Amino acid sequence: MNPLITRLPLFLRSIVAGTLLCLLTISTAMPARGHEDHPQAAAPPKVSEEVAHRPTAIPDRIVLTWVDDPSQTMAVTWRTDDSVQQAVAEITLADDGPHFVGNARVVAAETTPLVTDLGTAHYHTAYFGRLSPKTKYVYHVGDGTNWSEWAHFTTASSDSEPFTFVYFGDAQNDIKSHWSRVVREAYSDAPKASFLLHAGDLINSANRDAEWGEWFYAGGFIHRTTPCIATPGNHEYFKEENANGDVASHSLSRHWRPTFAFPQNGPSGLEESAYTLVYQGTRIISLNSNERQEIQARWLNSVLSSNECRWTVVTFHHPIYSAAEGRDNPELRSLWQPLFDRHRVDLVLQGHDHTYARSQLMAYQSENVATGVTRRSEEAGTVYVVSVSGPKMYELGHRPFMRRSAQGTQLYQIITIDGDELHYEARTAIGRPYDAFTLKKRPGQVNELIDRIPETPERRPAVKAAAR
Ligand SMILES: [Fe+2]
Repeated sequence: MNPLITRLPLFLRSIVAGTLLCLLTISTAMPARGHEDHPQAAAPPKVSEEVAHRPTAIPDRIVLTWVDDPSQTMAVTWRTDDSVQQAVAEITLADDGPHFVGNARVVAAETTPLVTDLGTAHYHTAYFGRLSPKTKYVYHVGDGTNWSEWAHFTTASSDSEPFTFVYFGDAQNDIKSHWSRVVREAYSDAPKASFLLHAGDLINSANRDAEWGEWFYAGGFIHRTTPCIATPGNHEYFKEENANGDVASHSLSRHWRPTFAFPQNGPSGLEESAYTLVYQGTRIISLNSNERQEIQARWLNSVLSSNECRWTVVTFHHPIYSAAEGRDNPELRSLWQPLFDRHRVDLVLQGHDHTYARSQLMAYQSENVATGVTRRSEEAGTVYVVSVSGPKMYELGHRPFMRRSAQGTQLYQIITIDGDELHYEARTAIGRPYDAFTLKKRPGQVNELIDRIPETPERRPAVKAAAR
């Protein structure tokens, strides 16, 4: 304390101290001198999409996928500006230290120019073959001068070993601001997932480059280390109208095929949107519910007729059992579900409804309109799920098939296949357990479904009391 103050009597000291404190409080509460003369600077203008999503020679939008056997191959796709004409990837066995670099082999990439609403970009895909099963590799992509970071992936086992994958319903809207937390929460919950499966509507406007940029921003490095399996939704389709306002054409996003290297083993004309692959003894099938469904039914029947996998998971976008009244797709159901029944598909993962709905074991029921008799497929049962990961929300209906449902909730699903059991968990955007069940294989019979629904209250509107 100032020695002048310490010489004052005690009562005067407290008056002086109180006065100083009062002055200090007033001075900090008052605006700084000259504040009125310098009004707050105007906010900078919004950064344009052309700038925010402009490609450069440095690789971005890097994503792992499979075209072929996940135990022996991997594909990586990335984007640059059009200055990159000869893109390459380098790959070798991952090592504990940095000396792997000298061992890397060079793999030339295939380049596809893509003209978008924001300009021109080059998309490059490198196909890694002759890989060993169950092995960690390290790779990077570039042009010999500008490179991505080195990143890891692990090949699948060639045996039917247990594995986990994550399933997402529609991300679609406000992807950067609202889907980022969901995909990252899912990754933090299942960082060793073998792949991420997207049931369509990854974006909202099929050919808007900025939305694809946001999808890659949200997933960030996850897309570089965890392979992606995706099926197109209606929002991956671009509608062109004629002068009368009628739909003149309906075509898959220009971004889809340059962005993802998926198998080309589906029906002709639906390459990379209807396809199948086998991951550690489980068959995954993507059907494109947007077009040519009958052709796909024939293809599906032939795939499933020779299917030797213990588990079969099918994904497509438009639900055949909708969570909302009036949004069912009965034509699709009559076309595809009898095949799911006959060939005992275990799980169907869908999107489109922007709600959550998980069924009991469902078998196709057809009603003979003339007789009123309902025929139920014998010995059949598949679990159907609709989910949503983005922020767009629709109203939920009250449908009798639903074992668990949610409205106004963003979710992700963690699915583990282990021998004769499939474990399924749905979690909300904050990682809260929301739904769970186990499917058990039973020799010669349909699966057993064991519900394990957590205590989290159901997030759905209450049924309105009937009017009296
Ligand atoms: Fe959607």
